[in-house]
Amino acid sequence: RTTTVSVIKADIGSLAGHHRVHPDTILAASRVLAEAKRKGVIKSFYVTNAGDDLQLIMTHFKGVDNPEIHELAWTAFREATKVAKDLGLYAAGQDLLSDAFSGNIRGLGPGVAEMEFVERPSEPIVVFMADKTEPGAFNLPLYKIFADPFNTAGLVIDPRLHDGFIFEVLDVFEGKAVELRAPEEIYDLLALIGTPSRYVVKRVYRKSDREIAAVVSSERLSLIAGRYVGKDDPVMIVRAQSGFPAVGEVLEPFAFPHLVAGWMRGSHHGPLMPVGLKDSKVSRFDGPPRVIALGFQVKNGELIGPADLFDDPAFDEARRQAQMIADYIRRHGPFMPHRLGPEEMEYTTLPEVLKRLKDRFKPVEMGYKPKVKHESGEAADVD
Ligand code: F6R
Ligand code: MG
Ligand code: MG
Repeated sequence: RTTTVSVIKADIGSLAGHHRVHPDTILAASRVLAEAKRKGVIKSFYVTNAGDDLQLIMTHFKGVDNPEIHELAWTAFREATKVAKDLGLYAAGQDLLSDAFSGNIRGLGPGVAEMEFVERPSEPIVVFMADKTEPGAFNLPLYKIFADPFNTAGLVIDPRLHDGFIFEVLDVFEGKAVELRAPEEIYDLLALIGTPSRYVVKRVYRKSDREIAAVVSSERLSLIAGRYVGKDDPVMIVRAQSGFPAVGEVLEPFAFPHLVAGWMRGSHHGPLMPVGLKDSKVSRFDGPPRVIALGFQVKNGELIGPADLFDDPAFDEARRQAQMIADYIRRHGPFMPHRLGPEEMEYTTLPEVLKRLKDRFKPVEMGYKPKVKHESGEAADVD
């Protein structure tokens, strides 16, 4: 029998702007899931928040993309939204982009990461949940966890990891995916995933037996809605130990608060700060972007835990570095590379500004004929 872990999240409104989820909405969602557990639809669940995102962590025996599970999550978000509206929470119902559920929650707004596996005798997993950033924020940590021996000693030391891993990389603009093998193809892999706004590591498999090792939510709200509607604060599930990287190897990349896209208005680069649940909220400039990590054991389909893995002085230095980086980069104000590049500003007011100024741009004698690169990557002559 296989067990499925489903992590489904949505921002359905929050307290004090986009600061954090209100406990009453957590309760509302929990009530829906408790009833579903009583009926045997799910085996167990844990509801929490990453900043202003409501997180449903569920285990069941129905496989990934199961309509009943997705509808359950949808119902939980709808019930939580009712409470959010009653309390006048900010941006109530924000991520529920549709009124009607039609079998699959993907494409409706919420983020989804699910994996199905045959449980090992002991099955440790880590669920990462980030706020004020995007799915590609996990590209760098995933590379380090599954492809970098300077991070993961097991790649060198443990014969079960020694063959390496397969990365499934999604092109979120084209809706295409490619599988790349590590270590053989790491340069090609890095060439893609170094552009985290477009190429997102969706899944990682162990090469020797194609066992699922990690999965990331890859929804991009703006690409669904065609306009800026908030960042796509991502979640990720990683399996650890005995044949996978150890929990400490899975956490290690987060000791480096790398720069990610998101933060204020989803339009700025900032450091990803690892925090415990007590700091799972945002403040300064609506950030800085944060990530929590909850460890569970999965036994007979049941979630045992959680362990609040970043709630540890061992990550104090990463948090301090994140503050220093935040100070430094904030001083750039509206300048790149703090503010995101033009292709990422496409869903904000930038196109309107350009439209308004269009007729005020006058030709200038450059002494050469400039070639512009359009978003398609093709060079074109300027008229
Ligand atoms: C970023 C985020 C916030 C909001 C900002 C403006 O993901 O959620 O930084 O973008 O607080 O919010 P509105 O436009 O709702 O006033
Ligand atoms: Mg919000
Ligand atoms: Mg959020």
